[in-house]
Amino acid sequence: MRIATTIAALSLAATLAASGAARADDLKIGFLGSYSGGAAAFGQETDTAIKVWMQQHGDTVAGRKIVLLRRDTQGQANIARQEAAELVSRDKVEMIAGIALTPEAFAVATVSTPAHMPVLIVNAATKAILDHARYLARFGFTTGQEVAPFGVWAFKHGYKKVYAIFTDYGPGLEAGRVFKKTFTEAGGEIVGEVKPPFTTPDYSPYVQRAKDAHPQAIFIFAPAAGHPEAFLKAYTDSGLTENTVQVLATGDLTDENQFAQLGDASIGMITVFNYADDHDSKLNHEFVKAFLAAAPTPGMRPEFTAVSAYDVMHAIYNVVEAQHGKLDPDKTMALLKGMKFESPRGPIMIDQGRDIVQNIYIRKVEKVNGKLENVEFDAIPMVNDLGEPVK
Ligand code: PHB
Repeated sequence: MRIATTIAALSLAATLAASGAARADDLKIGFLGSYSGGAAAFGQETDTAIKVWMQQHGDTVAGRKIVLLRRDTQGQANIARQEAAELVSRDKVEMIAGIALTPEAFAVATVSTPAHMPVLIVNAATKAILDHARYLARFGFTTGQEVAPFGVWAFKHGYKKVYAIFTDYGPGLEAGRVFKKTFTEAGGEIVGEVKPPFTTPDYSPYVQRAKDAHPQAIFIFAPAAGHPEAFLKAYTDSGLTENTVQVLATGDLTDENQFAQLGDASIGMITVFNYADDHDSKLNHEFVKAFLAAAPTPGMRPEFTAVSAYDVMHAIYNVVEAQHGKLDPDKTMALLKGMKFESPRGPIMIDQGRDIVQNIYIRKVEKVNGKLENVEFDAIPMVNDLGEPVK
């Protein structure tokens, strides 16, 4: 009995230490991170970005200390739902932020709506997540947002025959559907398509099928965890190069943390995305510098989930400030709608549908001063979640 009590006390102490013991007047925010499992790199990225934000802006807003209660979802929808429910009912958080994958976001929506709990999504790229979930707002991107302008861009830049490869779950299916629509409407031809599964597959049979269809280019969406390296291996093993079959991908394939695994074989890939750590702005240069200094492992570079987590912190500080530290969920959502600010990726806005409006960049992988970079060379300014320009 005594042992059991001691263990309970120890585990409570450990929980408090892990979550940063909160005082009654602290503003508790639940952070759903993917700290282990296949998408664990996202957890490190987002934590580093949050650290940078708090170093630059302090930990107190409108007199309230911001305390993040971090929970590891392991990238699993059922764990994300359970953690979100406990953050609401036991920890009494006033907002939730984070999330890395689409299935987690759908699961957390089932907790957010009945609890009237604002959730600021870092990454989950399927458009429909926000439907019927009025307390969710997205700070990442939708795949349609990127791919709609990309389909048009690809045809205009001489790609007439393309083979499409897209992962068989929400953001991939949407990327495939939207690319095929915009590319063929522009005049292009899809010479074949294949949908690899979410659990990282061996890409060689898929790349072989693409090769056999003799396309000018492969369009690919694959999530930035495990897949990029697997795809590139199959692509190079099959003897393809950017001179024979061009890769046209969403930027998930070449996010800055993939470069260490991808190496020089990724040079020449053309991608579409919302963020490159090479983006040329004063704010981004400051962000990148602070991120590299704060990163837990040398060589870790900021990527799309890092910049999104940084912007989520910015939005949280804005809504707390505007409400003088007393949060009302409906006011929080009203304040998020129409919120605009400068991000390290460029200007961003949250629209009336709680989705993000941002610049979409066309980039090419190049070696710059000995380092692989996504070099932006074209931009489609301020597009919405459907990939349509907004004025
Ligand atoms: C998603 O699950 O929505 C997702 C995951 C990883 C990405 C992009 C989208 O790189």
